[in-house]
Formats: sequence, C-alpha cells, structure tokens
Amino acid sequence: MNKLFDLSGRVVVVAGGAGYLASESCRALARQGATVVIADLNEERLATAVESIRAEVPGARVKGVQFDAGEETAIRALTDSTLQDFGRLDGWVVATFFSIGKRVEDLTAEEFDKANHLNITSTFLMARMAAESMSAGGSVVLFGSMYGLVSPVPQVYQPPMIPNPIEYGANKAGIIQMARYLAAHYGPRKIRVNAVAPGPFPTPQVDEKNPAFISRLAERTMLGRIGRQDELAGTVVYLLSDASTYVTGHCLRVDGGWTAW
Ligand SMILES: NC(=O)c1ccc[n+]([C@@H]2O[C@H](COP(=O)([O-])OP(=O)(O)OC[C@H]3O[C@@H](n4cnc5c(N)ncnc54)[C@H](O)[C@@H]3O)[C@@H](O)[C@H]2O)c1
Repeated sequence: MNKLFDLSGRVVVVAGGAGYLASESCRALARQGATVVIADLNEERLATAVESIRAEVPGARVKGVQFDAGEETAIRALTDSTLQDFGRLDGWVVATFFSIGKRVEDLTAEEFDKANHLNITSTFLMARMAAESMSAGGSVVLFGSMYGLVSPVPQVYQPPMIPNPIEYGANKAGIIQMARYLAAHYGPRKIRVNAVAPGPFPTPQVDEKNPAFISRLAERTMLGRIGRQDELAGTVVYLLSDASTYVTGHCLRVDGGWTAW
C-alpha cells in the first residue's frame, strides 16, 4: 500500500506553494519522496516554506522559485528551468489565487478582468504548459473551492464583513470546469487533470480576530468544525500518486461536508 503513495523519483511543481494550504502539500510531497519545486510570488513566504521543509523532512529535495503566475513568460521559464534541473516533470499543482474583495455593487469591469486573468487564464496557461511538458502518467491538480460549486451563504458574512466576492467563486467554477475539459483533452496522452474543492480553511489569524465568524463557518459543515491546515495535503498526494491512476476529470471536495447537504 505504501508503494501506491510513493513519489520517489517524481518531480512536482507547486504554484502558490508557499501559501497557507499548499505549503503543507509541499511538505507532504517531500515526505513521500518527490522532488518539489515550490513556485510563488512572495519571496519571504517562499524562503520560509523551503527552509521549514528542509529542516523537517530529512533528505528533502526542495527548490524555491520566485515567479508570477500572471506572466506567461514566467510560466515558461519555470517549466524550462524545472526540466533543465531535473530532466522530467510528473506533476503540477496550481494553488495560486487572486481576488479583489469588493461588494458586487463596487466591482469594476477592469477589476473583474484582472481576477479572470490571474485566476482563469493563468491556470489555463500553467495546466497546458505542464501537460505538454509531461510524459504519460503525469498529473495536474487545480485548486478550486467549494465556492466554485455553491454560493457563499450571505448570513455567514455578517457586517462589517464583505461577503466572499463574486469574482472568486465565478473563477473557481471556471477552474473546476477547466479540469474536466483538460482531462478529456489530455486523456489520450494518459495525462490526468483533476480539481480539488477545499471548504472552510481560514487561517489561525482569522480565528483569533473573529471567532464568531469561525463558528458560523463550522456550523455549515457536517463535521461541525473548520478544516486544519494539513487536511488537504493527503488529497494532493493522492491525486499525484499511483493511488489515483484511474481518477481524472474529477473534483474532489475536501469541505467537511459543506456542499453535501
Ligand atoms: N483557505 C481556504 O479556506 C480556501 C478555501 C477554498 C479554496 N482555497 C484555495 O486554496 C488555494 C490556496 O489558498 P490559501 O488559503 O492557502 O491562500 P494563500 O494566500 O495562503 O496562498 C496562495 C499563494 O499563492 C501565491 N500567489 C498569489 N498570486 C500569485 C501569482 N500571481 N504568482 C505566484 N504566486 C502567487 C501567494 O503568494 C500565496 O503564497 C487557493 O487557490 C484558494 O483559492 C482556499
């Protein structure tokens, strides 16, 4: 059984890999033996993620690359440098995101376009570049959200909070659909494409500042609690490993049951 989840010899790029959720996925991938390229815009978070994995995972093969997923040339450079350094590409995770965070009434067309570019277009370019650089057996994992499947419940976001913004869920729905489309497109080449749809995973800082909000989120889940930072990592390992070789075009919900009732 351990062999099914063994990623020794595999090379995986994690875009947005220095973030709250994806940094835990990077740690888990390194523990399973993968060579992990952590690619992120934020240099400080990148350095912290790389250092902490090197310190905690004996023999970890981790490289940090600062890049902007909004730039096609940067995506190409990241792909080329990965192939040059490691000679292969087996997995690519897209865990970046951008949102404006305004109310429906205040969002401009330019702002909506910017979100579309940074979420949808950049995910498309990364997934295509990744799939085209992989051999048969490659796996692409796109981070969607439960808000790409269901609407945020307005009552959960009580004033003065701004509700989870419209462009976020609209983009996440597009990403989930993109996983299905690309799974069909790259299926003949034996490359799998899946999405994950995380539920409520607010950071401990949100918990400290607004415990009433955390309770309202927790109440909406079947398990009665928010997700822990490390609770997505197993799903990402699964989708990149031989444990999921017949899974493609799927959207795996990791949401404590939020979207199931
Ligand atoms: N935390 C949650 O509750 C939650 C719920 C559902 C879905 N998600 C999704 O999970 C993913 C990770 O979310 P998170 O909460 O860990 O957020 P996060 O902000 O901690 O992580 C996102 C990372 O992406 C990086 N990034 C942003 N724009 C970039 C760009 N243009 N180029 C390169 N890197 C860029 C950021 O620097 C950051 O490190 C996102 O796609 C998010 O939409 C999160």
